[in-house]
Amino acid sequence: MENIAWSEDLLLGVDEIDRSHQLFLAQLNQLRLAADSDLPEKLAALTKEMESDFFHEEALMEKLNYPDIKMHREQHAMVLSAFHIIVPEVMQGKFSNARNALELLPQWLVMHIKTVDKALVLFWLQAKKNSCQTAVSMEI
Ligand SMILES: [Fe+2]
Ligand SMILES: [Fe+2]
Repeated sequence: MENIAWSEDLLLGVDEIDRSHQLFLAQLNQLRLAADSDLPEKLAALTKEMESDFFHEEALMEKLNYPDIKMHREQHAMVLSAFHIIVPEVMQGKFSNARNALELLPQWLVMHIKTVDKALVLFWLQAKKNSCQTAVSMEI
């Protein structure tokens, strides 16, 4: 499969989240071209990157009492659990599951950004707007 390039339709409008997603996709694309010998180190680095992206989103969801937190968290956990299997595998010289995962991940990421991450950001922006309106109306 071809690499999936970053494009404007993946922007959600929150710099910190967008930067993290952009980096994530770039790393994934690079990893798919990497030699087997580079996979252990690079996959471990990518796992850290994902954990950080997921951690920030989940902290935000908790702060917002986000209604779909369980479903969103499950999607993160599913991907991370796959990584926690393939990282030790590549360390042992087994690459086939990692290569399969790297083929599927860019599509997963794009779908995740465009659906669940987007829903979260929209909810957050709406909550911010509502709290501004409440603050304004309380001033009046
Ligand atoms: Fe995300
Ligand atoms: Fe997410």
